[in-house]
Amino acid sequence: MINQDFIASHFGSKAESYSSYARVQQIIAKDLLQKISELTFHNCCDLGCGPGVNEQALAVFCNHVVAVDLSAQMCAQVELLNLSNVSVVQENIESFNFRNFDLIFSSLALQWCDLSKFFYNLSNSVDDESYLTLAFPIKGTLNELEHILQICGVENRVNNFYSKNEIDGVIDRFLVPYFDISRLQVNELQYLDKYNDKESYLNSIRKIGATSNDTNKPFSKTQYRLLNENLTDILNKQGYLTNTYNILQIVGKIKKL
Ligand SMILES: C[S@@+](CC[C@H](N)C(=O)[O-])C[C@H]1O[C@@H](n2cnc3c(N)ncnc32)[C@H](O)[C@@H]1O
Repeated sequence: MINQDFIASHFGSKAESYSSYARVQQIIAKDLLQKISELTFHNCCDLGCGPGVNEQALAVFCNHVVAVDLSAQMCAQVELLNLSNVSVVQENIESFNFRNFDLIFSSLALQWCDLSKFFYNLSNSVDDESYLTLAFPIKGTLNELEHILQICGVENRVNNFYSKNEIDGVIDRFLVPYFDISRLQVNELQYLDKYNDKESYLNSIRKIGATSNDTNKPFSKTQYRLLNENLTDILNKQGYLTNTYNILQIVGKIKKL
């Protein structure tokens, strides 16, 4: 069960540091934005907008952008951007009303949601035609980190990401019966996030609020020592530390049948 209060407070506590540390996240969002850069839209919603990292770009080719996030602190950061055609809503994207949005954009947020609820609600509230532009990590993401943590005796820190098959199942159930999705493209992309030192590697996870659940205990002294030793060992052997992000991009128009 997804604990949304935990997600909101955890991301909220990183609202000010997120943009400085979200390196791979910015590349993933840029590639997604690239897919729609030659189109124009009236009304866009950016789901799980974080501190507004994509609002400036979206505001260029959309008449109006509604930035949506669970976290009040993230929403406050978007307000600070002071963009005239961007408004901010603190809301759960699983139950958002998609009516009147011709662009539905989301980068790196849907992995925190119940996708069945999200697509059920989308198919019930979206207009006859709308353009989906979604990217989120799936299984295989952060495998390196998960492996290192397992060696240190730390379990369940990495998100239990959806598999491509699970997402195909959700699309088959909630989109295929109701929409023409022949112009919708679903692609898997792989990004490697590389670091030359331990601190930057760990900060790339802990400074953006991407901790998996609310039941985690703090690391013990032994776990920290083991983590440190393992990271040093990998650095000495291969010269860098990496994390893989397997990203699913869902891009294109859906049209009611
Ligand atoms: C990893 S950040 C992504 C930020 C930004 N979209 C980007 O491209 O870097 C994920 C954001 O999604 C938000 N989020 C997670 N679950 C959500 C939900 N159910 N409803 C609204 N926002 C949610 C979090 O609060 C967080 O700000």
